[in-house]
Amino acid sequence: MTDVIELAGAAKRYDNAGTPALGPLDLAVAEGEALAVTGPSGSGKSTLLNLVAGLDKPTEGAVTVAGERIDRLGEHALARFRRERIGMVFQFFNLLDDLTVADNIRLPAQLTGAARRKAAARADELMELLGITRHARAYPGRLSGGERQRVAVARALVNRPALLLADEPTGALDTASGHDVRELLVELHRGGQTLVLVTHDMALARACASRTIQLVDGRLSLDTRAEAVR
Ligand SMILES: Nc1ncnc2c1ncn2[C@@H]1O[C@H](COP(=O)(O)OP(=O)(O)OP(=O)(O)O)[C@@H](O)[C@H]1O
Ligand SMILES: [Mg+2]
Repeated sequence: MTDVIELAGAAKRYDNAGTPALGPLDLAVAEGEALAVTGPSGSGKSTLLNLVAGLDKPTEGAVTVAGERIDRLGEHALARFRRERIGMVFQFFNLLDDLTVADNIRLPAQLTGAARRKAAARADELMELLGITRHARAYPGRLSGGERQRVAVARALVNRPALLLADEPTGALDTASGHDVRELLVELHRGGQTLVLVTHDMALARACASRTIQLVDGRLSLDTRAEAVR
């Protein structure tokens, strides 16, 4: 099976003194895996996600994502890589409040130069899939947290990314909405989407992930696979 992510001796130091915030780390994530990254606050979870997303570069080692050595890409190529290959979901949604739900979802497609009609069709398909079609013309500020996170997931998926990354996607949600988003991630995994989910919440990790790693002080302390995909 192809690896979507491969870290080889990858490390990140924010300063020259002391130990790295992350790594050095070897990690391979196969296509179709749903990986949960857990660990205490400050253990390097977001740092790992940022390296994989191409939002930050390792200070040592190699980071290969979807077949590209992204640690070697320049700013321009990296921005393009992120737009075309990576979908990201954040704790606080990061939607644009002055665009409608439909326009928020279409935007990343339009930024890659997709034809307007194609972008609209893909956005419609995702809104249908995620049960938010009735909010298409609404502005994000009018939606509940759970609905907003569904919009954010639809936006992340509009370009059919090789990899969906989520940093605490249920962190700002109440229990019921958190449960909805959890179910959505399970569905996406079932559909074959490769995903990496950062979470403090072990129950969320257990429910959504086919594999869970735990970071402690930037190092891998646990790496376990679920026996079967639910
Ligand atoms: N931009 C930065 N500059 C300097 N140090 C940083 C920076 N970002 C993170 N760090 C440090 O690197 C370490 C790992 O941080 P990181 O944000 O990856 O942890 P985390 O596991 O995501 O924590 P949390 O669960 O609180 O989100 C911490 O010690 C943090 O203080
Ligand atoms: Mg974090």
